Amino acid sequence: ASHLSDSRPKVVICRNLGPAMPLLTERKDINIVLWPEDRGCERAWLLENIKGATGVLVLLPDRVNEELVDAAGPNLRVVSTMSVGYEHIDLPLMAKRKIRVGYTPDVLTEAVADVSVMLALMAGRNDRSFNIVKNGEASWSPFMFCGPQLSATNTSPSRTIGFLGFGRIAQATLARLVPFGITHCIYTGSPNSRPDTARDAALQAKYNLKALERVDVDRLAQESDVLFVLTPGGKETYHLVDATFLRKMKPMSVLVNTARGSVVDSDALATALREKWIWGAGLDVVEGEPMITSDHPLVKEPQCVMVPHIGSATFQTRLDMATRAIDNLIGGVFGGEMPSEL
Ligand code: DGY
Repeated sequence: ASHLSDSRPKVVICRNLGPAMPLLTERKDINIVLWPEDRGCERAWLLENIKGATGVLVLLPDRVNEELVDAAGPNLRVVSTMSVGYEHIDLPLMAKRKIRVGYTPDVLTEAVADVSVMLALMAGRNDRSFNIVKNGEASWSPFMFCGPQLSATNTSPSRTIGFLGFGRIAQATLARLVPFGITHCIYTGSPNSRPDTARDAALQAKYNLKALERVDVDRLAQESDVLFVLTPGGKETYHLVDATFLRKMKPMSVLVNTARGSVVDSDALATALREKWIWGAGLDVVEGEPMITSDHPLVKEPQCVMVPHIGSATFQTRLDMATRAIDNLIGGVFGGEMPSEL
């Protein structure tokens, strides 16, 4: 219960974290204010309730900006997001106000890599085939519902895998693709990062790759047979995959986005699919989600497989993310160690 005389630090929790909640509610040393409904936290509620808070646990839709920090006042020491992405948080502002920031890397890497491979496989077949059994319309003929193959065989040489962004999830995705006979991998790193030749040599040896090369964006577009978008969102990566990029891609190539919708220009992708610049797309994320209606240009594209941001949606991973977010929050509130601090 929260009342004015409560001297314990106040923490605001923007969403009920289900099975992880006891990690908060069983503590006696914090005053918990929880958004009571099972939907995204309303801004007005948050601005009102964050007053005087020491910590806040947010999710992707909760913008952490000057408005929120000002509403909180000078007690605010930590913002903990239950996500690996942090483009909803104004990091320079956090640094200026000396507010610590926690996020959830590592714990979701494997789950998101799983979905990345799933979407690459699905987008390489034919989206129309996925529902017809349940619609009672199944049929079969020799070349019906065919698409490009991911696995290498004697008659189907290794396809070049491309990564836009080559961090934890990209490398976990590559690890999964090696048993598919993949021997060629290219990637673009963040423009601010230096090439890591020692790491690349180690990965190339570990996975017995014929090539693992850091390339520029043009070559990535031109040479990838399967292109994974696995870069953080935000201003720097906004619409990196636009019409110019998509026009350079191969007609039988597949694009997978399990990172952020904002990296891919949806209208350009719809055009690319409609005009067959590329074969298909598999999207876990899309600009404007989750408000995607049936008249969205990509929903109407037959060769676009879409799932609703489920990359990290396994019971274990979401529990691990919630736990990490809570541990970060508590560490920040009491000025201690945060397991994943930005
Ligand atoms: C993240 O963690 O940033 C994902 O997009 C949500 O699971």
